[in-house]
Parts: sequence; C-alpha cells; structure tokens
Amino acid sequence: MADGHEIPPVTLDGGVAMPMVGFGTWQLYGRQAYQAIRHALDTGYRHVDTATMYRNEEDVGRAVRDSGLDRREVFITTKLPSRAAGRERATIGASLRALGTEYVDLWLVHWPPGGRASPSVWEEFLSVRDEGLARAVGVSNYSPGQIDELTGATGQRPAVNQIPWSPSRHDPALLAGLRERGVAVEGYSSLKGTDLRNPALTEIAERHDVTPAQVVLRWHIEHGIAIIPKSARPGRIESNFALSGFSLSGDEVARLDSLPAR
Ligand SMILES: NC(=O)c1ccc[n+]([C@@H]2O[C@H](COP(=O)([O-])OP(=O)(O)OC[C@H]3O[C@@H](n4cnc5c(N)ncnc54)[C@H](OP(=O)(O)O)[C@@H]3O)[C@@H](O)[C@H]2O)c1
Repeated sequence: MADGHEIPPVTLDGGVAMPMVGFGTWQLYGRQAYQAIRHALDTGYRHVDTATMYRNEEDVGRAVRDSGLDRREVFITTKLPSRAAGRERATIGASLRALGTEYVDLWLVHWPPGGRASPSVWEEFLSVRDEGLARAVGVSNYSPGQIDELTGATGQRPAVNQIPWSPSRHDPALLAGLRERGVAVEGYSSLKGTDLRNPALTEIAERHDVTPAQVVLRWHIEHGIAIIPKSARPGRIESNFALSGFSLSGDEVARLDSLPAR
C-alpha cells in the first residue's frame, strides 16, 4: 500500500530521524488506546505521540511491546506537563517506567511553564538528552521569541516545536521563522481544526480520489510539516496513513493555504 512509510523522515539535530506521519493519542485511554495503537503499528505507523498528561503511556508501551516490532523501529514522543517544571527528572523517570522503555525518541516541554520560556527547564532537558534518556528534545506551543530565549541561554535550540496547524491556521511567516531557526515543525489538531466539508477541499479530494482528511494531511507533508493525526477508528487510522499514493499541485496547495476556519 502507498503510505506514510514511503514519505522521507525529517532529520532532527543529532541525526535523529522522525517519521513525518505519527499517530496522535490524546483522548485515547485504556483498551481503546491499546487497540488503536496496535492497529496503527500494524498499519505501518512508526511514530506515536503521547504525553504525561494523556494518561496513556502504559497503553502506548504495551502496544509497542506487543506489536513485535523492535523498540528501535518506533519513534516515541512524550511531554513534560508545565506544572511539572522543576521536577523534570522524576517526570521523565515516571514516563520511561510507564512506557517500559529505557529512552524516548523525543521529549517535549508541553507548554511554556507559567507562559514563560523557562531556560532552567530547558537546561534539564538538555542533560536528560545528553544522558541518553531522550534521543532528541524540543518544545510545544512555544513562540519563536520563546525559542530564542532557550537558544540564547544554552546555545542549543529545540529540535521540534509541536504547534496547532491546519490549512485555516496556515501561517507562512511563523513557518519560515521556525525554519530559519532550524526547528522542525510538527502540526497538531490538523483535522479537528479543519472544516472537512469545505467545497475547495472536497473538490480536490474528488480529483485525487481520496478523502478530504487525506488532502489536509497531505497538504502538511507538501509544506514539510510533520503530522500526528489521532483516530480511534481502524478505517480512519489506515486512510490517515495512506498519503503517498498522490500529491498536490502547487495550485492546490496555494488554494488550501487560505482555507477559511471551520
Ligand atoms: N502539544 C499539544 O499541546 C497538543 C495538543 C493537542 C493535540 N496534540 C497531539 O496531536 C494529536 C492530534 O491532534 P488532535 O487529537 O487534537 O486532533 P486531530 O488528530 O486533528 O483530530 C482528531 C479528531 O478527528 C477525527 N478524525 C480522525 N481521522 C479522521 C478522518 N479521517 N476523517 C474525519 N475525522 C477524523 C477523530 O475522531 P475518531 O477518533 O472518532 O476517528 C477525532 O475526533 C493528538 O492526539 C495529540 O497526540 C498535542
């Protein structure tokens, strides 16, 4: 099947390869989380996005172990809740125990603690990475200015900024600003943030014989933005990953760049 497997990964600082298409797990719990992640891994996803706050790290860990895949084949992201600032070590320790792994591939500061960049948290992140507990470290929901604060204080930039992104939230200046800083962009709530019945979207989807959701996800790939769609439904888990059998023209991308908000 033509799928997200065939889309080249983004290379993060330190040479860490992050698959462009990951599986989001927010609001998936217990048995439903386990089954959805198992299905995602069976479908071909090799990147799973969780967080301490999602309360499903144990389910993620079990699904990865039971999948029969080598741990090194699956890219796992988790996140430090901002209320855990100052307790970074204990928090990554708890995440690793829950996930049943010796390292995560990416550890993110979930939100700027107290709305501030918080270089002291970032320093802890860098030492956790240097000790091998996280292969790469980054942030989520940070502004370019806040990223500059972290880089200015430590000389080391976040590898990733995970932020809300979708055609109606497209912000070329922000994308360019993060690119200039060498920070990979990972978009979240791409589907939730889109009116999937928008006529421009449905027309493009019909032209390519795919679903509007697949067009939205492929549009991110055309822009070099990593994606982490979540679904609890097997059919959607599969179609959200089937993104390499078609591509969007420059005109189609430009049309979607200014899609109205839902
Ligand atoms: N860093 C942060 O602060 C942050 C914040 C939010 C999210 N995230 C991460 O990003 C991931 C994705 O974001 P998200 O979960 O907010 O939203 P999303 O993946 O954009 O959308 C999920 C919603 O869309 C539905 N859906 C999935 N596939 C679909 C399809 N093919 N057609 C129509 N509807 C579809 C899902 O319903 P069903 O499950 O019923 O299919 C669910 O209601 C999260 O799971 C989480 O890992 C991070």
